[in-house]
Amino acid sequence: MEVILQPDGQRAAALTAAIVAETVRRKPATVLGLATGRTMEPVYATLVQIHRDEGLDFSRVRAFNLDEYVGLSSDHAYSCRGFLKRHFFDAVNFDVRNIQMPDGMAEDLEAESHRYEAEIAASGGIDLQLLGIGVDGHIGFNEPLSALRSRTRVKALAPQTIGQNAALFGGPLKVPRRGITMGVGTILDSRRCIMLATGESKAEIVARAVEGPIAAMVTASALQLHPRCTVVVDEEAGTRLQAKEYYRWIFENEPEWEAFR
Ligand code: F6R
Repeated sequence: MEVILQPDGQRAAALTAAIVAETVRRKPATVLGLATGRTMEPVYATLVQIHRDEGLDFSRVRAFNLDEYVGLSSDHAYSCRGFLKRHFFDAVNFDVRNIQMPDGMAEDLEAESHRYEAEIAASGGIDLQLLGIGVDGHIGFNEPLSALRSRTRVKALAPQTIGQNAALFGGPLKVPRRGITMGVGTILDSRRCIMLATGESKAEIVARAVEGPIAAMVTASALQLHPRCTVVVDEEAGTRLQAKEYYRWIFENEPEWEAFR
């Protein structure tokens, strides 16, 4: 795991987008794992800008989203698909045939979970997975106590997650109660992942995920097991980290980061 501290949220998102853009330039048929949520909005906005300015080509990129709410149709504005359509897919040149989402309206959600895992495997696996982190430490909708080897399945949303998304849906009672999500094990199978966290509300959980023990109560802590995981935080989300100077030293000295400094 590597931790990169950036002065503010905009620069943290820009760095994340730069890594995605570089990955797509190097491998035009990249398989991307996507995340939704407020943290990701400036990342997609930056990618859209790069597409407009430099013609970054998404026509061969395959996209798998992490999760979807159960019971929301894909054209619902607050569904994960609706979010990505608005912020990303419609603004760049994705081929719709290359976009995969778990179907939260499927009659048989267990079969849908298996289908999704099989689609990911058939694509050759995820090259780069984008992740946010919930205030309860979730990645995807892998709420506290999710098995660290779990695969795509339905999970009940934790009260904290419902609270986190209440404003978006117009009150906690309107937030769906369940999500269909890639499992922690599915995420750990990606070749590379970037977890982006911004803002003071994420500071405590970021410190627990990065510097605390690996524990099912904080599913993001499982990323410590990932062979190539980069955690990008702004100053606010990084305030509780103990080893900030070490992370800065690595970022300044690792040749890999030369082009991104
Ligand atoms: C979204 C997702 C969630 C969010 C997390 C952070 O697809 O899987 O894990 O990444 O809840 O959400 P925001 O960015 O809104 O704080």
